[in-house]
Parts: sequence; structure tokens; C-alpha cells
Amino acid sequence: MTQPVPSALHTSKLHSLPLLARGKVRDNYAVGNDRILMVASDRLSAFDVIMGEPIPGKGALLTQMALYWFDKLGDICPNHLTGEEPESAVQPDEVPQVRLRSMLVKRLKPLPIEAVVRGYLAGSGWKEYQESQAVCGVPLPAGLINSAKLAEPIYTPAAKAEAGEHDENITFERTVEMVGPELAAQIRDISIAIYKKAAAIALTKGMIIADTKFEFGLDEDGKLVLMDEVLTPDSSRYWPVEGYADALATGANPPSYDKQFVRDWLEQAKVNGKPWDKTAPAPRLPQEVIDKTAAKYREALERLTA
Ligand SMILES: Nc1ncnc2c1ncn2[C@@H]1O[C@H](COP(=O)(O)OP(=O)(O)OP(=O)(O)O)[C@@H](O)[C@H]1O
Ligand SMILES: [Mg+2]
Repeated sequence: MTQPVPSALHTSKLHSLPLLARGKVRDNYAVGNDRILMVASDRLSAFDVIMGEPIPGKGALLTQMALYWFDKLGDICPNHLTGEEPESAVQPDEVPQVRLRSMLVKRLKPLPIEAVVRGYLAGSGWKEYQESQAVCGVPLPAGLINSAKLAEPIYTPAAKAEAGEHDENITFERTVEMVGPELAAQIRDISIAIYKKAAAIALTKGMIIADTKFEFGLDEDGKLVLMDEVLTPDSSRYWPVEGYADALATGANPPSYDKQFVRDWLEQAKVNGKPWDKTAPAPRLPQEVIDKTAAKYREALERLTA
């Protein structure tokens, strides 16, 4: 980034555009009836609870990273960017809230599927494998260890949850019931193709993309378009290659660029002397945790774009 990082923003307040929705991280505003201004705030959600403290720079870093990837992936699938400057959609006094952290996108009909692709066994995938030797109905060979690289990336979709609920892992067959066989197969094939290309690029920068999640929508012609954010540490598990080999040897989780640091802190945090029950409000993040998390997000973008 050549321009200075904007000051921390927990919640945007634009007066010139109607607010469509506040997600966990993004505030979406309507621009006319065919576009959305997506403002990535500095909010951080962990265990699906939004932290009270913003992570300075996070929104801008996420947006810049998503833009980096959209630019590299256009040959595989069209994306929701309109190509217009986000600043052009707001009043001059609102520019500081929007600068570097926003995308001006086509308003699509979102599909209720989270298109998850896994190249490695980690997180909920590792958990499911230990119970059933399969992930989302995809059978896997016996004897795999935590963080193992899979012979081929697998597609393990989830149903997009209503606000406040957790996403639910589903089978490919279920996605066929939801959107029909053609669209379901198209989403799967495009997701795997994007993952493979991105993972290969990331590897040349010394980063493993263990798994990732894409969202798609339909445009006014019913064409499939890649939307939301892509391949950020919020939607993807990034591991630095140097930490990976050590982790495999010990069975520990490789250090990651995602929110693991905050999650680890929250796991041991006490509220009124008791472990936090993972419902809002979250315990107050100490400055050290905020700083370290901000540094992780910065490092991920710097490494990728170096
Ligand atoms: N081009 C688009 N058209 C319509 N909706 C979009 C588009 N791109 C992203 N979205 C939606 O905008 C929202 C982004 O906000 P954010 O990522 O903060 O939400 P979330 O916490 O993941 O989910 P939720 O909105 O359910 O809280 C998501 O609901 C996403 O599906
Ligand atoms: Mg999201």
C-alpha cells in the first residue's frame, strides 16, 4: 500500500447511501439499485462473535488482498467488481471512511452455499476426519495426520447460515438439491480451479493456503459470478511454509495468518473468573493481542505482494 493506512473503524456511518446490511465484518450500502458499496470495517469476529475492539488496518488489508486475488483469477471466473472507484459513490466528507477498505460491486443474487475447498486437513475438516474418515461426505484414505496435504483438493461445501448462526457443513448432493445439478457442479469445479491456481501462486511466496471459502452470486442474466471477499486470512487458512514442516513432525497446528492468535487468547480468557462461554459480549482484547493480530494481517499481505 502506498497510501497511509486509514484510522481504525469499527462501524461505518455513511449518510449519503442507504445501509443494506451490516455483516460481521462488512457494512453494505446500496448504490442505485444495481450496485453495493462494501465497506470492510476493522471488526474481527471469532467463534462468530464480533469483538468490541477494532483491529487497526484490518479492513484495508483484507480489501487490498481480495483485489490482488480478483486480478489474478479473472480468467477462471468473472467477479463482482464494477471497476469504479469506491470514493466516487460517496460524499467528500465520507471518503476517509471508505478509502482503501471498500469495493464497489455489482449487486448479485447471492447463492446460499459457502464453497469450501481444502488442500490440507485442518480445523473442522481434521475433526470430522477423525470421527468418520471423511469430510462432508468425501471419503479420504486412512492414516492421515493433522495438517496432512491431501492428494487432491476436495470440495466440502457449507450452507450459509442466517445471521447469528454457524455455517453447517453439507454434502455435494445437498447443494444439488439447493441450486440444481448444473450450477452445483459449476460452483464446485470453479472453486477447485481457483483454489489450485491461488495455492500455486501463494506457494511461490512461501505461503500454503490450507483451505478457503468462496461465495458466488447470479447476475441479471443468471450467470455465475464470484463475489464477497476472496482468499483473505478471514476466509482462508494461510500457513507460512517454514512453520509447516515442524508442525507436521509434532502434530501441532501450523502457525497461521488467520485469527488463530485471537482464538487461542479467547480460549484461555476468563470472564468473572470463568472461561468465556463464546457468546456476546466478547472479553475485552488486550492491546498486545490487538497489535499482534494487526501485525499478522500486515505480514500476510506484505508477503503475498512482495
Ligand atoms: N456482489 C454481492 N452482491 C450481493 N451480496 C454480496 C455481494 N458480495 C458479498 N455479498 C454479501 O455481503 C455480505 C458481506 O458481509 P460480511 O462478510 O461481513 O458478512 P458475514 O458475516 O460473512 O455474513 P452475514 O452477512 O450473514 O453476517 C455477505 O452476506 C455476502 O454474502
Ligand atoms: Mg463474510
